[in-house]
Amino acid sequence: MQKIKILAIETSCDETSISVVENGRKILSNIIYSQIDIHKTFGGVVPEVASRKHIETIDGVLEESLKEAKTGLEEIDAVAVTYGPGLVGALLVGINFAKALSYAINKPLIGVNHIEGHICANLISNKDLEPPFLTLVVSGGHTHLVVVKEYGEYEVVGKTRDDAAGEAYDKVARSLGLGYPGGPLIDKISTEGDRESIDFPRIMLEKDSFDFSFSGLKSAVLNYQNRMAMKKMDYRVEDVAASFQEAVVDVLVKKTIEAAKKYKIEKVTMAGGVASNSRLREVMEKASKERGFDFSYPPGILCTDNGAMIGCAAYYKYLKNEFSESTLNAYPNLKI
Ligand code: KG4
Repeated sequence: MQKIKILAIETSCDETSISVVENGRKILSNIIYSQIDIHKTFGGVVPEVASRKHIETIDGVLEESLKEAKTGLEEIDAVAVTYGPGLVGALLVGINFAKALSYAINKPLIGVNHIEGHICANLISNKDLEPPFLTLVVSGGHTHLVVVKEYGEYEVVGKTRDDAAGEAYDKVARSLGLGYPGGPLIDKISTEGDRESIDFPRIMLEKDSFDFSFSGLKSAVLNYQNRMAMKKMDYRVEDVAASFQEAVVDVLVKKTIEAAKKYKIEKVTMAGGVASNSRLREVMEKASKERGFDFSYPPGILCTDNGAMIGCAAYYKYLKNEFSESTLNAYPNLKI
């Protein structure tokens, strides 16, 4: 079998990542430079700072990635890059870098949708996984339930109408004074809290809808804090965090399982930063097992933004000759 090596670039938010992926599912290198320590000071990602940092680091990340993959540029068959959704300036750094590389080595350019990349992380971590399968994509910017019908063929059956799950985690963490990014901090602190202590709302929306809404839950946490402050009553941050998390996990798991039943799909997967959440993994695993569904998810390093997932998605486009023009642009609101 011919070995196709794709060099894949991801700069949609605050990670500069370049990977070399062989035949879509084998990672030869996956270098991720995270800017999180810089953005932490501001309590969130500052777009202009992110773009500048990508420019500063991308050369070094490429060099390291090729070194780790023990691959020279002459062995690369295509250059893939995320072209949306994401921060426009950050995306443009990766896109222009990819265009220059593809031109220099005279190999095709492949634009990849970031959400498609997240979904494809599952194909790397679970080598037996084949479509059709269902993916719950939960990250800082997205919450989508996607049916993967075929390689590269997707049907979005539900999405958030307001905040993304990760965004809710980050905002609640901020109001609890926990810091940024909030997801991992709430995950950790929740293990010491009572998840049944506060009955936060589970917003399920209309019957049969697979859409999500987390802004009401976020407000409910704020209202709880305000009420307690007005009554001059103390509360345990661990309990609020654990109860909030339980409400998020409850909704995510129920909707995912219902969607799997409705669309008659027996393989359930997850993707995106929030898919690293320990409680979400535990509850989803249990619920899937009860219904006899196969459940798998990528390791943390493939849940966060990374180049390898982009290389995987690009491979299936390569097989179908789905190449991009050198006029490829950034689309901050690109849909899947
Ligand atoms: O996929 P990602 O790295 O970036 C994009 O948004 O594309 O996701 C980052 C999000 C942040 O909101 C972060 O708080 C959340 O994922 N996150 C978590 C956990 N780890 C990261 N949320 C809950 N539990 C975690 N363990």
